[in-house]
Amino acid sequence: MNLTYEVIPAERAEACRELCNELMAFQKSVAAIRPELFDSMNFETRMLPSIDSASHNYIVLVKDRDQPVGYVYSNISPKETYSNDFAAFFDLSSVKMEQVGCLSQFYIKEGYRKYGVGSKLFDLSMTWLQTFKEAEDYFIFVSNGNTNALEFYQRKGFTVSHEILDGFITVLRSRKIK
Ligand SMILES: CC(C)(COP(=O)(O)OP(=O)(O)OC[C@H]1O[C@@H](n2cnc3c(N)ncnc32)[C@H](O)[C@@H]1OP(=O)(O)O)[C@@H](O)C(=O)NCCC(=O)NCCS
Repeated sequence: MNLTYEVIPAERAEACRELCNELMAFQKSVAAIRPELFDSMNFETRMLPSIDSASHNYIVLVKDRDQPVGYVYSNISPKETYSNDFAAFFDLSSVKMEQVGCLSQFYIKEGYRKYGVGSKLFDLSMTWLQTFKEAEDYFIFVSNGNTNALEFYQRKGFTVSHEILDGFITVLRSRKIK
């Protein structure tokens, strides 16, 4: 393993296309509640629109030599982004500021898990999110059946807030460390 970590600009998000699509397939494979919702979720319908609606984007791509093996995508977005036709992700009045931070997509290929890569990407994302004074509430949305990720985030300090879409998604929250 010869891993490199590269922060890539949103214009180069294309480099994450396959990994993003693998993430959606993975989430479908573990979901018991409405797995069919993932059928319409892919790089085009999830990552590109998120990038467009965000105020700031942060993507870190991990490569083993030339091969992309993992990525994390986080953003700072207007809180209204999270109240749309699909779902009301959280009570907007529970957020004081206009913007929120989100660790939006996170995926490491199977053979590269449990070596600390995820922890490194998580820490990079949190450090980035904390640099924005216009956001102090951070969210992660975990789809049902992904107990491993849910517990990973809880060990890192996020707490379960509530479930939406009949348990399809669990909403995790944390706040800026002042
Ligand atoms: C969730 C995910 C990103 C975590 O990435 P990861 O690289 O496995 O994370 P880490 O290696 O940092 O940590 C995982 C565990 O391995 C342990 N670990 C880390 N380095 C290790 C090492 N060198 N040897 C043995 N174990 C190690 C960590 O202590 C951690 O244990 P814990 O979860 O009990 O605390 C990864 O499992 C993944 O991509 N899963 C599939 C997609 C997914 O669920 N994405 C999240 C969507 S919300």
